[in-house]
Amino acid sequence: MTKVRKAVFPVAGLGTRFLPATKAVPKEMLTVVDRPVIQYVVDEARAAGIEHFIFVTGRNKTVIEDHFDIQFELYDTLEHRGKVEQLERLRSMQPAPGETSFTRQQVPMGLGHAVWCARDLVGDEPFALLLPDMIMQSDESCLKGMVDLYAQTGNNIVAVQECDPAETHKYGIVAKGADVHTGFEISDMVEKPAKGTAPSNLYINGRYILQPQIFDLLAKQERGAGNEIQLTDAMLKLGKEQPLYGYHYRGETFDCGSPDGFVEANIAFAMQRADLRDVVINTVNRLSARKG
Ligand code: UTP
Repeated sequence: MTKVRKAVFPVAGLGTRFLPATKAVPKEMLTVVDRPVIQYVVDEARAAGIEHFIFVTGRNKTVIEDHFDIQFELYDTLEHRGKVEQLERLRSMQPAPGETSFTRQQVPMGLGHAVWCARDLVGDEPFALLLPDMIMQSDESCLKGMVDLYAQTGNNIVAVQECDPAETHKYGIVAKGADVHTGFEISDMVEKPAKGTAPSNLYINGRYILQPQIFDLLAKQERGAGNEIQLTDAMLKLGKEQPLYGYHYRGETFDCGSPDGFVEANIAFAMQRADLRDVVINTVNRLSARKG
């Protein structure tokens, strides 16, 4: 079975839910504690064994490319000042030459269109797709669990997790079929089901392993919801041709594309840091007391 070596990161969205912050700064570069959101997602992919990182970018996103490049002046200054710890941290996150590729979507015509823009860079092999808005906190990387399931089953894998049953109309929801190894067969998939009609409360949380046939389907895919080319529409067709498996992720997911998820992520990641945990607790206690 072909190893999953490449990951696609669609970062061409306009981030309208996060204006005005995203007017000049890409939402993927907003920081959760002290790392840009995109760094968390790239780190997750690397921890899952990904070797090549493909970014589908757009206008005003060049700073993402700069973030993953070497900054000679900065590295040199840190070295001269003996800031070894900071230097080592930067170097540990640095992709090696040739490990990254960037292509432009040119027109933000939807997630499905953004993924299709990566077709030549991915080529004829399975690939991981990570939505950079969604960052995760768990002992084992979500994508690592999916790669392990892929090694047992092949085909296409979609990560899901539980949401509040009253919130299913906001997400892509899957119906669960028979268990297969550490995953299960997906028997149906519905994008934003009307209230009370969802087949489960398992929502698609932004991590996929897909076969390259998805590109042929995306090329023919017509515009759907929001007049955009929707990935879910093409995946429903893919599911008719090839098995689709679900991977039930049990950690935390934060939607950093919206202010509430972003605030939650900052609190959750700060609480994990020995030097910041008390800062969060003391601040919340102090401000809660003031408000009350
Ligand atoms: P979202 O719908 O969450 O991103 O797309 P958005 O369009 O930037 O958000 P809002 O609604 O305006 O705030 C999910 C992912 O797909 C990417 C986004 O960058 C995000 O990572 N995307 C979306 C593209 O790359 N291109 C698109 O045309 C649309």
